[in-house]
Amino acid sequence: MIFESHAHYDDEAFDRDREELLEECRNQGIEYIVNVSSSLKSVRTTLALAEQHPFVYAAVGIHPDEVGELNEETFAWLEQQCGHPKAVAVGEIGLDYYWDKENHEVQKYWFRRQLELAEKCGLPVIIHSREACADTLEEMKKAHSPELRGVIHCFSYAPETAGEYLEMGYYIGVGGVVTFKNAKKLKEVVKMLPLNRILLETDCPYLAPEPNRGKRNSSLNLPYVAAAIAEIKGVETEEVIRVTNENARNLYFQGREL
Ligand code: NI
Repeated sequence: MIFESHAHYDDEAFDRDREELLEECRNQGIEYIVNVSSSLKSVRTTLALAEQHPFVYAAVGIHPDEVGELNEETFAWLEQQCGHPKAVAVGEIGLDYYWDKENHEVQKYWFRRQLELAEKCGLPVIIHSREACADTLEEMKKAHSPELRGVIHCFSYAPETAGEYLEMGYYIGVGGVVTFKNAKKLKEVVKMLPLNRILLETDCPYLAPEPNRGKRNSSLNLPYVAAAIAEIKGVETEEVIRVTNENARNLYFQGREL
């Protein structure tokens, strides 16, 4: 059974068929889904989705593009949501210098605050980092502690950087990009990663793998991602599915009873 570690099913791209699609995921071997929020509004919609569906869990956090929404009042509200029984992570949080919607210092400030929040609440973090390799690594090193666990989602940097995150105990999220012909760097990263450090993710509705590249993505495409990883690692697809499921359970459920 597949563990989908990063999805956005509250996105409007799923408005017309969300319930049917989630039902199909359930029937097609998707055992768990972590739905990830990115704004205050999506924290609400993500938690609502998790309340409606027993196999959906929630990550609550504010994406670097949206940190303009944060102030002490909204941050206090965010902290309360971390206590929701279905909240399993703080995310997605990090730095994004590609869209560059918020000033870098502002992004870093709220990144740090959310890293501290995760540690305080005993939740793992889901890290978003785009064109901000050095600054993200610097913040993660500063925040590093044995209690702070997490995943670097949609990993897009070099193998050396992956190595630094592995040393700090982080998981690496791998999605549809690994099936793209031109994704040389990510294929190299997957080659060097131990299987027990990889999480399967879609980031749907975005980043559909081959052969569905360019279409709306969903967790139903995860077998293509698992097969691409299996080919690189020289193992069976079933093994990739089994080990990444264990990895995601270890990270998000931390031995708690479901
Ligand atoms: Ni995402």
